Amino acid sequence: MQIRTYRGVPFIDREEEIEFFQDWFLEAPQRILFVYGPKSSGKTTVMEYVVENKLLNDDKYWVKYLNLRGKLISSYDSFLYSFITPDDIYKKSVETDRKFSLKFFSIQRKVLSEVKNKERDLFEELMKSIEEESRDKRCILIIDEIQKLNEIYISSNRELLKEFLNFCVRLTKETHLCHVLILTSNTIFIERIYSDAKLKETSDFKKIDHLDKNQIKTWLNIEGLKNKDIELIWDYLGGNLSRILKMLRLYKKNRDFNLQEYLKREQWLAYTEIVDYLTDFEKKDRELFKKIAKRIIDQGYYPLDDISRDEKIFLEKWAEKEILFYDPLELKVTGNSRIYEKGMELVIG
Ligand SMILES: Nc1ncnc2c1ncn2[C@@H]1O[C@H](COP(=O)(O)OP(=O)(O)O)[C@@H](O)[C@H]1O
Ligand SMILES: [Mg+2]
Repeated sequence: MQIRTYRGVPFIDREEEIEFFQDWFLEAPQRILFVYGPKSSGKTTVMEYVVENKLLNDDKYWVKYLNLRGKLISSYDSFLYSFITPDDIYKKSVETDRKFSLKFFSIQRKVLSEVKNKERDLFEELMKSIEEESRDKRCILIIDEIQKLNEIYISSNRELLKEFLNFCVRLTKETHLCHVLILTSNTIFIERIYSDAKLKETSDFKKIDHLDKNQIKTWLNIEGLKNKDIELIWDYLGGNLSRILKMLRLYKKNRDFNLQEYLKREQWLAYTEIVDYLTDFEKKDRELFKKIAKRIIDQGYYPLDDISRDEKIFLEKWAEKEILFYDPLELKVTGNSRIYEKGMELVIG
């Protein structure tokens, strides 16, 4: 297992994932790739690592990485301006910010205003620019935090989202012009658009999960932690990188850091988050949650093979709240990270 430095901080492992993406990009585009996994499992980080260290310094690639985080996209106009900019602004911005070219498509100002007025078709214009680039480059389009398009989905612009997904199908399966990767932890949103836009035959999935026990052990051994402490950390925090990194900072800073106390407090916070959300439900549903929690604790996961529609809707709410993680491919529900399962232990008492 490798520990590299990326952006001045340790970057743990992800060998398998890095190799997977490199291989994926070497192939001709055939299918949309949905990259999913629990919140904070490291999807964005590994993807950005691949873009910065494997793609940008290889001039056979032309890459766009659109991160929709922090963007409010509820209308056609806001959708348009979230990733397209007039060519004059594009040219100027790229001079001062090298990354700008990653985040935006450039379209002639006049054409863009026609697209805005719907005198020209947005996706045809994008297709034109990708066709041109793909003559001598391999094109890659990565969209992170796709669930930000949910506003569009629920508003009257539902067709726009469908058109966009159809455009992604055209880029991959039909024309093989451009790879399309879609990242999110919101598997409920994936399921929704997946069935809506009939993506079954046109997409693949790659799960990026929290790290496993061996990876955590190797890493924390290198950090100089005792095995007894590592076991305790694994029990409470599982393979959640960002929670372990936070704990490590305190562990290293304070001579009298009390690990057990810290982990118990984290568990308590997860517990209060769960209880707070539980109060939104009627007694029947609160009991259902306890049943689900018990199964997750006893078995490691709650199976989705044989659930009712009501139960599914209920589970989706907990997944959207990022307390549970809903995996539509493995047909399992778990805590969004290990600490929520520890919180559930307190709920069922
Ligand atoms: N391989 C890794 N090694 C070290 N830290 C990581 C690694 N992957 C992610 N992180 C850290 O964990 C946190 C969450 O990662 P992020 O990529 O934002 O998760 P996601 O996109 O899956 O929600 C960030 O603070 C990030 O720096
Ligand atoms: Mg992310």
